[in-house]
Amino acid sequence: MCGIVGYVGEREASGVLVHGLQLLEYRGYDSAGLAVLANGDVSVRRSVGKLKNLENLLAVEPLPGKSGIGHTRWATHGRPSEANAHPHRAGRVVLIHNGIIENFLELRAELQASGREFSSETDTEIVAHLIDDEMARGRDLAAATRAAIARLEGSFALVVMSSDEPGKLFAAKSATPIVIGLGDGENFVASDVPALLDYTRDMLFLEDGEMAEISSAGVRLSLFDGTPVEREPRRITWDPVTAQKSGYKHFMLKEINEQPQATIDTMRGRLLVESGDVTLEDLESSNDWWNQVERIDLVACGTAWHACLVGKFFIEKLARVPCNVDYGSEFRYRDPILDGRGMLLAVSQSGETADTLAAVEAARAAKVRTAAICNVVDSSIARRSDAVLYTHAGPEISVASTKAFVTQLTALLLIAIHIGRRRGTLAADASGELIESLLHLPGPMRDALAMADEIDALARRYVNAENFLFVGRGLNYPIALEGALKLKELSYIHAEGYPAGELKHGPIALISETMPVVVLLPKNGAYAKTLSNMKEVESRGGQIIVVTDVDDPAVEEVANDVIRVPTVHSLLMPIILSIPLQLLSYFVAVHRGTDVDQPRNLAKSVTVE
Ligand code: M6R
Repeated sequence: MCGIVGYVGEREASGVLVHGLQLLEYRGYDSAGLAVLANGDVSVRRSVGKLKNLENLLAVEPLPGKSGIGHTRWATHGRPSEANAHPHRAGRVVLIHNGIIENFLELRAELQASGREFSSETDTEIVAHLIDDEMARGRDLAAATRAAIARLEGSFALVVMSSDEPGKLFAAKSATPIVIGLGDGENFVASDVPALLDYTRDMLFLEDGEMAEISSAGVRLSLFDGTPVEREPRRITWDPVTAQKSGYKHFMLKEINEQPQATIDTMRGRLLVESGDVTLEDLESSNDWWNQVERIDLVACGTAWHACLVGKFFIEKLARVPCNVDYGSEFRYRDPILDGRGMLLAVSQSGETADTLAAVEAARAAKVRTAAICNVVDSSIARRSDAVLYTHAGPEISVASTKAFVTQLTALLLIAIHIGRRRGTLAADASGELIESLLHLPGPMRDALAMADEIDALARRYVNAENFLFVGRGLNYPIALEGALKLKELSYIHAEGYPAGELKHGPIALISETMPVVVLLPKNGAYAKTLSNMKEVESRGGQIIVVTDVDDPAVEEVANDVIRVPTVHSLLMPIILSIPLQLLSYFVAVHRGTDVDQPRNLAKSVTVE
């Protein structure tokens, strides 16, 4: 997720581009850059860190000109650095990109073999070289761009310019958004609507497989193969704040809805469908460890700690490696066993959580091998770990973690499959079935998201509760913990998560008519036993909300409310069950009028002990 802006017209392009990038900085903020055409040349300015640094650079080295492109980056391939910042240039081609080119290693090898040299670690630079290569064979920019994108695998929103064709921008889309803003004698392009709202409200949204040729005189749409496309513009009436949230009321709701795509981005390029394997190039250097390791310490805080609890289940079941799950704040103070037979796997969205980082440092000091699952590229935990697997979920703005959690679960499952296959504990047919289910998971996730109105109505009924219990079993028990954490941090309602079987050992004393109990009841998760736990709650007057994939009259009889979710592979149920719980917390918070995106007393990244 990066921010993209482009402009062609009569204004000074750099002003339009910087203003657009300011409005998109929430999409990426590790580096930024601009390219502007003037006097037959395209000049580029780039800078690491916040957009302010680029603005300072432009004050000293301005970029006059009437057409150009700008980008604010959220690193995926290659750490945040000036060399890796966009725009990228190859010969006469300059471009910006949002997305991931999966086959970039093969393409780079091929281009290097033909004598091309690269100045960055990015997948994006490959595309600039491919287009330049096609232009060197006599193609114009449009034809060269078409020929290049025909070779790309993965997702991309691209905006390309060249000094050979002044006053023209070409945009192309595959699985990553691009919108074109229509002006009078000027036109715009961006990754998101907010960047353009101060200039126009008439927008054309590109569909997957489409390209646009943008000049000050007009915009022409076509398919990648050149077939013309006709589309009426849409008039956007969103206010600027709503636009930043893509029309959603809160970042949290936007991020909840981004989960199917975020899950695809975590899996992208890592599933080998035919062999039933998972390839984790990022962890390649740690392959030997996976074979030898006798024990894994999973360490994290908060929501990421809940992901680790599910991860322990995945790794022990599929790879038969014993796992221990620790809070970052506990790990280093409890004199853990740190020896060459174990390894530490840290999980963190931000990669900056002080307690988790301290655990990584403690492991390093003891010469224990470390790996990390992070969302933020080149974050402290990512840099301090021996190997890192990025979730590629894009920036998570809301303090309450949602898409980061679901992508951490996905990454942990990929690791479990990877180790299980390497160690021979997971048969190819079982892993093939799991991979197939993972590939289809975004569909059921969208079905679960489509229950938002139903869950909103449910939230209204329980909005005045002062306590909540969440119960589940097995790998879904951590989802009960996560459901309780989400509810308390968003709505300030006291909530507890328990293994369902543990109720009778104490918490059942809390049950009364004023206690809603959310029961996670998937078909494959000790169904009959959890059903009898529910009956224990019912007989003590508790109000039962069941989240289940089963259509069972016995459940209807006992439950006050039933949320029916789609059935998926049993190991993927934690992901599906998380969605209604996130929505429940969200809507309860909305109806209680709390600050959804920035709950009181909390910070997005906890960088102090
Ligand atoms: O950035 P991290 O994943 O390391 O953050 C860990 C926790 O601080 C975080 O998950 C926190 O619990 C969230 N607010 C939960 O929604």
